[in-house]
Amino acid sequence: MSPARKALPPDFSPRDFRAALGMFATGVTIVTARTASGELAGLTASSFNSVSLDPPLVLWSLGRAAGSMAAFSNGQHYAINVLATDQQALAERFAARDVDRWQGVDFVAGVSGAPLLTGCVATFECFNRSQYIEGDHVIFVGEVERCTRRASAAPLLYHGGRFYTEHPLQGSQGDPTAPQPTDGRFVGSYLGYLLGQANHAVYRDFENAITAQGLTHIAWRVLAVLHDAALSHGETPGVAIGQLAHDVLAKQPTVTKLVQRMAEEGLVALHADPADQRRTLVTATPTGQAAASALIAQARQQETTLLARWSASEAEAFKRHLQKLASGQ
Ligand SMILES: Cc1cc2nc3c(=O)[nH]c(=O)nc-3n(C[C@H](O)[C@H](O)[C@H](O)COP(=O)(O)O)c2cc1C
Repeated sequence: MSPARKALPPDFSPRDFRAALGMFATGVTIVTARTASGELAGLTASSFNSVSLDPPLVLWSLGRAAGSMAAFSNGQHYAINVLATDQQALAERFAARDVDRWQGVDFVAGVSGAPLLTGCVATFECFNRSQYIEGDHVIFVGEVERCTRRASAAPLLYHGGRFYTEHPLQGSQGDPTAPQPTDGRFVGSYLGYLLGQANHAVYRDFENAITAQGLTHIAWRVLAVLHDAALSHGETPGVAIGQLAHDVLAKQPTVTKLVQRMAEEGLVALHADPADQRRTLVTATPTGQAAASALIAQARQQETTLLARWSASEAEAFKRHLQKLASGQ
């Protein structure tokens, strides 16, 4: 026999331990039961995890001092309800003391009587198979008798003591109108095609706003670039025509002719570059600036509408990817 082995005493504080545990992101469940005398029991628990596929087993752990200990340790069945992103308030309520946790909560009775909360992303109806006292918690192993899931909803997440309701899959997974997988087809899955279609969707309505300002699409792009240059340089001497051509994705002779016409219309002013007399610098006139500002406000408004169903982090990530693609990275 090998000598008895013992763990080293911890060299960390309980606070450090909690903080380290908090780095493990989880979902959030409410574990529910109906006691033999008919009372409802339920508490928020993030300690849920899978144990075995065959037989189907899951586990969760309950603090030994928990008020609901008797209900769970004596009962034959319980249900584990995995919460959706719109159920954070329920998670908070089932962790709170001195409130009626069940007030107004919608549920149905499961196959063995445990309450199944309405609107969850998944439910596991369990037979109370075994319990293990470990430290200040009891580990419950449940044998799953029934399970359901709602594929069109996103789970609530928990990490570092905070709830997260913005799920990376939200909008694609949770949106029944989202594009479906393309089964190997080219059109509809090719990046160039998608970018073209997306470009069309973005500009379809905005073209009217550009025309209403008496501008062409390329003149609008020139004014937008000049607007940004003025922002970043303050007292800018202007943007060189070569740079402008690069920024608006047009050939230099085309842009030269365009800015001459825009100068005649009072939208831009042309100046010789003090550093190089052969170069022409372009600035927006107050009229050009006003046209640009009006269109930029409309563009932002339209962007907000287009992205209304996306979360802020999704929209930001999408733009970051496009910027990467555009810069050839
Ligand atoms: C996100 C979250 C996860 C929790 N996970 C657990 C858990 O896994 N086990 C546990 O015993 N308590 C957990 N709690 C705390 C209980 O929900 C809380 O102590 C509750 O009041 C216990 O209810 P009871 O005393 O009626 O049994 C969690 C609380 C929150 C907010």
